[in-house]
Amino acid sequence: MCKFKSIKPDEAKINPFSTLKNEWGLLTAGSIEDFNMMTISWGYFGMMWNKPVFGAVVRPNRFTYEYMERNSLFTVSFFPPEFKAELEFCGTKSGRDVNKAFETSFDPIDNNGAVYFSQADIVLICKKICFQDFDPKNFIDPEIINHYPEKQYHRLYIGEIEKILKKTK
Ligand SMILES: Cc1cc2nc3c(=O)[nH]c(=O)nc-3n(C[C@H](O)[C@H](O)[C@H](O)COP(=O)(O)O)c2cc1C
Repeated sequence: MCKFKSIKPDEAKINPFSTLKNEWGLLTAGSIEDFNMMTISWGYFGMMWNKPVFGAVVRPNRFTYEYMERNSLFTVSFFPPEFKAELEFCGTKSGRDVNKAFETSFDPIDNNGAVYFSQADIVLICKKICFQDFDPKNFIDPEIINHYPEKQYHRLYIGEIEKILKKTK
């Protein structure tokens, strides 16, 4: 049985750039009875309104978007490198077509209504406190629009990081 300890955000030694770019994360919303997850490599670790926050950006066509809308909590799980192929799977298949929890080894755990995975080594437990849709009118850098050939502009969900769980063994 794996164990996690709860640490404070300022005790976490996470490099936001290398973690998102190289390791990726698994964004999960919903309850243990009904959840969905997808791989992310964009997002923000930071401070907002005096709170430690994680900003997740989700395109409206993702199945996970529906779960982010319906639920007040979300989690972001970060894994050791051996799970890259399974993260790739969760980042290319939709929960509309496959049950990603059945099709991968990811083993869900309930944390007071939020779901994370036993194989993670770091987990952010977040409470949604704000959302904001990207408006192409506000794209100053003309290259940004190239990320939206289908006009699926991200919704930014700012989550207050309520807890960080760190694997102890
Ligand atoms: C490395 C990687 C990073 C991704 N980052 C994001 C992201 O930050 N936001 C997003 O909306 N989709 C992102 N995606 C795409 C979703 O993970 C992908 O479309 C997924 O299949 C959506 O699953 P769903 O329909 O079950 O929600 C990423 C995919 C990969 C492989």
